[in-house]
Amino acid sequence: MKYLFGNWKMYLDYKQSVELANSLVQENFENENVELAVFPTALAMKDVTDILQGHFQTGSQDAGHPSKGAYTGMISAEMFKEVGCTYALAGHSERRHIFGETNKDVRAKIESYLDAGLKPVICIGETEQDKDNDKARYRLSKQILRAFEGLDFEDGQILVAYEPVWAIGTGNACLPADAVDRIVFIKSEIAKYSKISVPVLYGGSVNNDNVLSYLTLETIDGILIGSASTKLPEFTNIIKSVLK
Ligand code: PGA
Repeated sequence: MKYLFGNWKMYLDYKQSVELANSLVQENFENENVELAVFPTALAMKDVTDILQGHFQTGSQDAGHPSKGAYTGMISAEMFKEVGCTYALAGHSERRHIFGETNKDVRAKIESYLDAGLKPVICIGETEQDKDNDKARYRLSKQILRAFEGLDFEDGQILVAYEPVWAIGTGNACLPADAVDRIVFIKSEIAKYSKISVPVLYGGSVNNDNVLSYLTLETIDGILIGSASTKLPEFTNIIKSVLK
């Protein structure tokens, strides 16, 4: 099984998200070996999930970790589950670097997603500075330690996305061979904490031209696409080329 996920971030508003979902469903992608999912804005989650039912799964881009109560402005994992979500991103680089989410916050989210029955997609990746200072492996191993040490989960419940911060939205994608190298490392680090094998996706400047150079490699279990998944022709072409 390979995974092809589209993170719509805050690129699309409610109306645009619903329009894109309606167009995608009309494509009627035939697919058995690839799990397709999109991560729309929370505002459009219920409608997009309903429209895409039976074709794509949906996931939330983030969720608060308390499940209910006096938490102004938050939406809980349980609330996303209630409207039909399957997945939820935990610790996307933009959450970590723009909103200051720590490894501790990410861990709390992972646990709350699992409690709610959502599958966490744990996003990890080194910054440019880490890379330049030869600290990429250190950064990844720390993020993995905090996410997985003592975590109780079952087979099929968790995915990881390797998204080097320097590759996200920059057009400077990680070379496929380097992504493989990192993903092999990530899998071996996760194996320190769990016997369960966790699929690891690559994300960062993936587009129609380079998607197959990752997805045809055995070690890379899937792709998390940002901006290219928000444009109908490009996302459609990517999906068609992957499903071929
Ligand atoms: P990008 O984003 O494809 O626009 O680089 C990837 C991501 O943030 O998941």
